[in-house]
Amino acid sequence: MKSLILVTGGTGYIGSHTAVELIENGFDTVIIDNLCNSKPEVLDGIESITGVKPYFENFDLCDLDRLRQFCKKYKSIKAIIHFAALKAVGESVEIPLDYYHNNFESLINLLRVMGEFDIPNMVFSSSCTVYGQPDKLPVTEDSPVKKASSPYGNTKQISEEIIQDVIAANPKIKAISLRYFNPIGAHPSAKIGELPLGVPLNLVPYLTQTVIGIRPELRVFGNDYDTPDGTGIRDYIYVVDLAKAHVIAVKRLLEEKNKNPYEVFNLGTGRGYSVFEIIRTFEKATGEKVKYKIYPRRPGDIAAVYADTSLANRELGWKAETSLEQTLLTAWNWEKAIRNKK
Ligand code: NAD
Ligand code: UD1
Repeated sequence: MKSLILVTGGTGYIGSHTAVELIENGFDTVIIDNLCNSKPEVLDGIESITGVKPYFENFDLCDLDRLRQFCKKYKSIKAIIHFAALKAVGESVEIPLDYYHNNFESLINLLRVMGEFDIPNMVFSSSCTVYGQPDKLPVTEDSPVKKASSPYGNTKQISEEIIQDVIAANPKIKAISLRYFNPIGAHPSAKIGELPLGVPLNLVPYLTQTVIGIRPELRVFGNDYDTPDGTGIRDYIYVVDLAKAHVIAVKRLLEEKNKNPYEVFNLGTGRGYSVFEIIRTFEKATGEKVKYKIYPRRPGDIAAVYADTSLANRELGWKAETSLEQTLLTAWNWEKAIRNKK
């Protein structure tokens, strides 16, 4: 019998790619999403890639009664992958209470039903934002967690603590937190990908929207950082490689191969690329020209961050496999596909 995995936020960017990988690895999936940042058509995309439409329930995880009803209906959930969260750093500064309410309430409710309905395993979406501006690069899982620079970052730090407290109180529960660096790209089929609402905040969707003609130019935020070419350096990880790590993490928990009831892994490529390197690699991969202009630094940005991924390599047997060039090509193919659909 196939194991049933609950994917919260499964119609979102990373969740949808993970649902595909789960199905392709023989899991049954059920998605909970309230569609506050995604569209139901994503389910068609997942179906057209895998031939399987995941079960889908549209409700807000902050509604505990509704979540309990859900657990009565789907009795045999073996693990939860918890993606659902609000994630815009700048917005979290403007409406912190919405972020604290949504991200904590949904997590607390899930942890409650895990105890009540004997669901033993959780994989939690964390972020490299928990490290702030690291003192040393690359960043290992032992690097200090610095005071969060935004309410969003704070929700990730505190969520990790909440999970650890619950595990300490209930030995039946195990969890793995995955700290993502910068996820980019789309499924190679161009049937699912990132769907930023309004003006994108992140580099790659802004870049692809510029090249397709929606934005006049890419704004490069600062060329005076202490980096080789002066622009910011990040660790860009292909979303499908990232999705695969979730399948490995779920199997690790199901097969009880975890070394501790709570584990943390960095998920990145281990290599940092500057904004100029992204532009040049995109141009090389696609043959398109990127129009850009240097702007002042974006407040809150750090100069450089990239992951030490040796723990994930060793313990999960996972490694980012896709080149930056291939990854950027998928982002471009996805941009073209969504514009043609409109
Ligand atoms: P996303 O916004 O595309 O997906 C999140 C999904 O959760 C959305 O479909 C949204 O509708 C849903 N959701 C939010 N609150 C909900 C609630 N209360 N009840 C039900 N559904 C709810 O985001 P993503 O980029 O796929 O990110 C997934 C997770 O990974 C998030 O926890 C995010 O913080 C984390 N993360 C993302 C990045 C990134 O760059 N995308 C980096 C680090 C960590
Ligand atoms: C941001 C979030 C982080 C989240 C990540 C992925 C902040 C402070 N951090 O990271 O929590 O995990 O997104 O969703 O917001 N850049 C430009 N022009 C642009 C956009 C970005 O030059 O239009 C530059 C930035 O200055 C940075 C790099 O590109 O050097 C990457 O930026 P971005 O994609 O926004 O990700 P982060 O800021 O690293």
